[in-house]
Amino acid sequence: MLLAGWIVGHLCWMALQWESAFGKVLEETYRKWLQYQDDCLRQIQQDPQPAGIYCNRSFDLYACWPDGVPGMLVNVSCPSYLPWAQTVQHGVVRRRCGLDGQWVRDSEGQLWRDMSECEEEQSTYIQETLLAEHLTPSSASPRQRTPAHYQDTPWCVPLL
Ligand SMILES: *[C@@H]1O[C@H](CO)[C@@H](O)[C@H](O)[C@H]1NC(C)=O
Ligand SMILES: *[C@@H]1O[C@H](CO)[C@@H](O)[C@H](O)[C@H]1NC(C)=O
Repeated sequence: MLLAGWIVGHLCWMALQWESAFGKVLEETYRKWLQYQDDCLRQIQQDPQPAGIYCNRSFDLYACWPDGVPGMLVNVSCPSYLPWAQTVQHGVVRRRCGLDGQWVRDSEGQLWRDMSECEEEQSTYIQETLLAEHLTPSSASPRQRTPAHYQDTPWCVPLL
Protein backbone atom coordinates (compact mmCIF):
# COMPACT_ATOMS: atom_id res chain seq x y z
CA MET A 1 0.00 0.00 0.00
CA LEU A 2 2.79 2.34 0.99
CA LEU A 3 4.73 1.33 -2.11
CA ALA A 4 1.69 1.89 -4.34
CA GLY A 5 1.27 5.32 -2.78
CA TRP A 6 4.92 6.11 -3.43
CA ILE A 7 4.67 5.00 -7.05
CA VAL A 8 1.57 7.10 -7.72
CA GLY A 9 3.20 10.04 -5.95
CA HIS A 10 6.29 9.63 -8.07
CA LEU A 11 4.33 9.37 -11.32
CA CYS A 12 2.47 12.44 -10.22
CA TRP A 13 5.72 14.32 -9.66
CA MET A 14 6.96 13.23 -13.08
CA ALA A 15 3.73 14.38 -14.74
CA LEU A 16 4.12 17.82 -13.19
CA GLN A 17 7.74 18.04 -14.24
CA TRP A 18 6.82 17.04 -17.77
CA GLU A 19 4.06 19.56 -17.91
CA SER A 20 6.34 22.35 -16.77
CA ALA A 21 9.06 21.31 -19.23
CA PHE A 22 6.52 21.29 -22.04
CA GLY A 23 5.23 24.70 -20.99
CA LYS A 24 8.76 26.10 -21.11
CA VAL A 25 9.29 24.80 -24.63
CA LEU A 26 6.01 26.30 -25.82
CA GLU A 27 6.87 29.63 -24.27
CA GLU A 28 10.32 29.65 -25.84
CA THR A 29 8.95 28.62 -29.23
CA TYR A 30 6.41 31.42 -29.14
CA ARG A 31 9.08 33.99 -28.26
CA LYS A 32 11.26 32.78 -31.14
CA TRP A 33 8.28 32.80 -33.49
CA LEU A 34 7.56 36.46 -32.64
CA GLN A 35 11.18 37.28 -33.39
CA TYR A 36 11.03 35.35 -36.67
CA GLN A 37 7.89 37.27 -37.62
CA ASP A 38 9.53 40.62 -36.81
CA ASP A 39 12.59 39.78 -38.87
CA CYS A 40 10.44 38.61 -41.74
CA LEU A 41 8.23 41.68 -41.83
CA ARG A 42 11.31 43.89 -41.78
CA GLN A 43 12.82 41.88 -44.64
CA ILE A 44 9.60 42.17 -46.61
CA GLN A 45 9.67 45.95 -46.29
CA GLN A 46 13.36 46.35 -47.08
CA ASP A 47 13.82 44.05 -50.06
CA PRO A 48 13.69 45.95 -53.33
CA GLN A 49 10.64 45.23 -55.52
CA PRO A 50 11.53 43.24 -58.62
CA ALA A 51 10.27 44.29 -62.02
CA GLY A 52 7.79 42.25 -64.04
CA ILE A 53 5.74 39.26 -62.96
CA TYR A 54 6.63 37.55 -59.70
CA CYS A 55 4.97 35.83 -56.74
CA ASN A 56 4.56 38.06 -53.74
CA ARG A 57 6.79 37.86 -50.71
CA SER A 58 4.85 37.06 -47.54
CA PHE A 59 4.86 35.73 -44.03
CA ASP A 60 2.28 32.92 -43.87
CA LEU A 61 2.61 32.47 -40.10
CA TYR A 62 4.90 29.50 -40.74
CA ALA A 63 7.75 30.65 -42.96
CA CYS A 64 9.09 33.84 -44.47
CA TRP A 65 8.75 33.78 -48.26
CA PRO A 66 10.77 35.97 -50.60
CA ASP A 67 9.45 36.98 -54.00
CA GLY A 68 9.15 33.96 -56.28
CA VAL A 69 10.34 33.70 -59.86
CA PRO A 70 7.50 32.41 -62.08
CA GLY A 71 7.81 28.70 -62.80
CA MET A 72 10.33 28.11 -60.00
CA LEU A 73 10.29 26.30 -56.71
CA VAL A 74 11.16 28.63 -53.86
CA ASN A 75 13.13 27.01 -51.05
CA VAL A 76 13.25 28.54 -47.59
CA SER A 77 15.22 27.11 -44.68
CA CYS A 78 13.09 25.35 -42.08
CA PRO A 79 11.88 28.01 -39.62
CA SER A 80 14.46 28.66 -36.91
CA TYR A 81 11.81 28.87 -34.18
CA LEU A 82 10.89 25.19 -34.43
CA PRO A 83 11.88 23.44 -31.19
CA TRP A 84 13.60 20.77 -33.33
CA ALA A 85 15.20 23.31 -35.71
CA GLN A 86 18.64 21.80 -35.15
CA THR A 87 17.58 18.41 -36.42
CA VAL A 88 16.22 19.93 -39.66
CA GLN A 89 18.82 22.65 -40.18
CA HIS A 90 19.60 21.47 -43.72
CA GLY A 91 15.94 21.07 -44.63
CA VAL A 92 13.82 23.49 -46.64
CA VAL A 93 10.15 24.24 -46.99
CA ARG A 94 8.98 24.84 -50.56
CA ARG A 95 6.38 26.70 -52.51
CA ARG A 96 5.99 26.91 -56.25
CA CYS A 97 5.52 30.17 -58.08
CA GLY A 98 3.15 29.75 -61.01
CA LEU A 99 3.87 31.18 -64.45
CA ASP A 100 1.10 33.71 -63.81
CA GLY A 101 2.92 35.11 -60.76
CA GLN A 102 0.53 33.50 -58.29
CA TRP A 103 1.69 30.99 -55.70
CA VAL A 104 0.49 27.52 -56.67
CA ARG A 105 -2.49 26.22 -54.70
CA ASP A 106 -3.48 22.66 -53.89
CA SER A 107 -6.71 20.98 -55.01
CA GLU A 108 -8.52 22.49 -52.02
CA GLY A 109 -7.47 26.01 -52.94
CA GLN A 110 -4.96 26.34 -50.11
CA LEU A 111 -1.50 27.69 -50.87
CA TRP A 112 0.61 24.64 -51.59
CA ARG A 113 3.62 24.13 -49.36
CA ASP A 114 5.92 21.17 -48.95
CA MET A 115 7.03 21.08 -45.33
CA SER A 116 8.06 17.45 -45.21
CA GLU A 117 11.75 18.24 -44.66
CA CYS A 118 10.95 20.40 -41.64
CA GLU A 119 8.74 17.98 -39.81
CA GLU A 120 9.95 16.04 -36.85
CA GLU A 121 8.36 13.21 -34.98
CA GLN A 122 7.13 15.03 -31.89
CA SER A 123 7.46 11.91 -29.79
CA THR A 124 11.08 11.40 -30.81
CA TYR A 125 11.84 15.00 -30.10
CA ILE A 126 10.24 14.94 -26.69
CA GLN A 127 12.01 11.77 -25.71
CA GLU A 128 15.43 12.74 -26.89
CA THR A 129 15.71 16.45 -26.35
CA LEU A 130 12.96 17.80 -24.19
CA LEU A 131 13.49 15.30 -21.43
CA ALA A 132 17.25 15.60 -21.51
CA GLU A 133 17.26 19.39 -21.48
CA HIS A 134 14.46 20.27 -19.14
CA LEU A 135 13.60 17.31 -17.00
CA THR A 136 16.61 17.48 -14.74
CA PRO A 137 16.64 16.48 -11.09
CA SER A 138 17.48 20.06 -10.11
CA SER A 139 14.01 21.29 -11.13
CA ALA A 140 11.86 22.68 -8.34
CA SER A 141 10.34 20.02 -6.11
CA PRO A 142 6.57 19.49 -6.22
CA ARG A 143 6.10 21.09 -2.81
CA GLN A 144 7.42 24.41 -4.08
CA ARG A 145 4.63 24.57 -6.60
CA THR A 146 1.49 26.63 -6.26
CA PRO A 147 -2.03 25.24 -6.83
CA ALA A 148 -2.02 26.83 -10.31
CA HIS A 149 0.57 24.27 -11.34
CA TYR A 150 -1.85 21.47 -10.62
CA GLN A 151 -4.59 22.66 -12.96
CA ASP A 152 -4.04 19.96 -15.55
CA THR A 153 -3.24 17.23 -13.08
CA PRO A 154 -5.88 17.66 -10.36
CA TRP A 155 -5.38 14.03 -9.35
CA CYS A 156 -2.03 15.10 -7.96
CA VAL A 157 -3.33 17.53 -5.38
CA PRO A 158 -4.51 15.03 -2.77
CA LEU A 159 -1.26 13.14 -3.13
CA LEU A 160 1.27 15.89 -2.55
C1 LIG B 1 1.91 42.00 -53.96
O1 LIG B 1 2.28 42.89 -52.93
C2 LIG B 1 2.11 44.25 -53.26
C3 LIG B 1 2.69 45.06 -52.14
O2 LIG B 1 2.26 44.62 -50.90
C4 LIG B 1 0.65 44.53 -53.53
O3 LIG B 1 0.47 45.87 -53.88
C5 LIG B 1 0.16 43.64 -54.64
O4 LIG B 1 -1.21 43.80 -54.82
C6 LIG B 1 0.45 42.18 -54.32
N1 LIG B 1 0.14 41.38 -55.49
C7 LIG B 1 -0.59 40.27 -55.41
C8 LIG B 1 -0.78 39.54 -56.70
O5 LIG B 1 -1.07 39.86 -54.37
C1 LIG C 1 14.69 24.60 -54.84
O1 LIG C 1 14.95 23.22 -54.71
C2 LIG C 1 14.65 22.48 -55.88
C3 LIG C 1 14.83 21.01 -55.58
O2 LIG C 1 15.89 20.79 -54.70
C4 LIG C 1 15.55 22.96 -57.03
O3 LIG C 1 15.26 22.24 -58.19
C5 LIG C 1 15.30 24.44 -57.24
O4 LIG C 1 16.16 24.95 -58.23
C6 LIG C 1 15.49 25.23 -55.97
N1 LIG C 1 15.05 26.60 -56.18
C7 LIG C 1 15.86 27.63 -56.02
C8 LIG C 1 15.25 28.96 -56.29
O5 LIG C 1 17.02 27.50 -55.66
